Amino acid sequence: MTDDLAGYGSNYDLRDEIKAYWSQRAETFDQSPGHEIFSDDERRAWQALILRHLGPGAGRRALDLASGTGVISHLMDDLGYQVTGLDWSEAMLERARAKAKERSRSIRFFLGDAEVTREPEASYDVIITRHLVWTLVDPKACFAEWLRVLKPGGRLLIVDGDFVTIGFGERLVKKLAAAAERFGLVKPEPVPHPPTAMAETHQSILSRVYFSAGARQEAVVAMLQEAGFRTRLVDSNLRRIHRAQRRNFSFFKGLTRGLQHRYAISVEKP
Ligand SMILES: C[S@@+](CC[C@H](N)C(=O)[O-])C[C@H]1O[C@@H](n2cnc3c(N)ncnc32)[C@H](O)[C@@H]1O
Repeated sequence: MTDDLAGYGSNYDLRDEIKAYWSQRAETFDQSPGHEIFSDDERRAWQALILRHLGPGAGRRALDLASGTGVISHLMDDLGYQVTGLDWSEAMLERARAKAKERSRSIRFFLGDAEVTREPEASYDVIITRHLVWTLVDPKACFAEWLRVLKPGGRLLIVDGDFVTIGFGERLVKKLAAAAERFGLVKPEPVPHPPTAMAETHQSILSRVYFSAGARQEAVVAMLQEAGFRTRLVDSNLRRIHRAQRRNFSFFKGLTRGLQHRYAISVEKP
């Protein structure tokens, strides 16, 4: 918990901590490659992934869960979806709305909890969510809720990863990066993720969420099936996106991307 929130008392729980954490992150979120998109190449790579898993928009209704600053919502809007973005950080939503205004797009962004969306039953053709599942407190409740708001035959696309388990290759690259930095061979990351001042909070939250040991693709798929979804496609190779992102990362950060357990899972409501 951050110091200024420490006095909140017993009603202040993990969900509030997560919300406060992301609200603080909102300010610099879009400065990080990997969050905001910095090239047409990367934009095309994301669109190709979405089209492969969800198909073209053609006016269909899409819900972007944990929409953050609206990066994915805007991609979906570009693909012809009628998009609603939900996030529980007002600071994130403000940025998403500002982008929509700037681009003259009519995307609806509203404050809500992905666990209890309060959206009508069977009201969406597709749901998309990037980098939310790893930080969920109760993913089972979420998956049941997402099944509820999808239309029969509707699809859910989850883009996520295990950000806890650090394999041998990644550890090695990180050590090389630290050494190269020490010897002045490379500059430090301009926007570290998470920002250095928030690293402890990030770690503390990560240790208490449901997937505290890392959101492995197999575990997420199994839980989705248990909730009643039918598996369609699992992409454990996001190389095209990572290759495009690499141009905006430092050399070492670019290398680690490809070594991490990242994936896209699409499932269907029967
Ligand atoms: C890593 S950011 C991802 C943002 C966006 N999906 C993207 O990929 O650019 C995580 C987001 O999840 C939101 N979030 C976390 N838990 C949530 C919940 N239970 N309901 C709604 N939003 C949530 C945070 O406010 C934050 O904006």
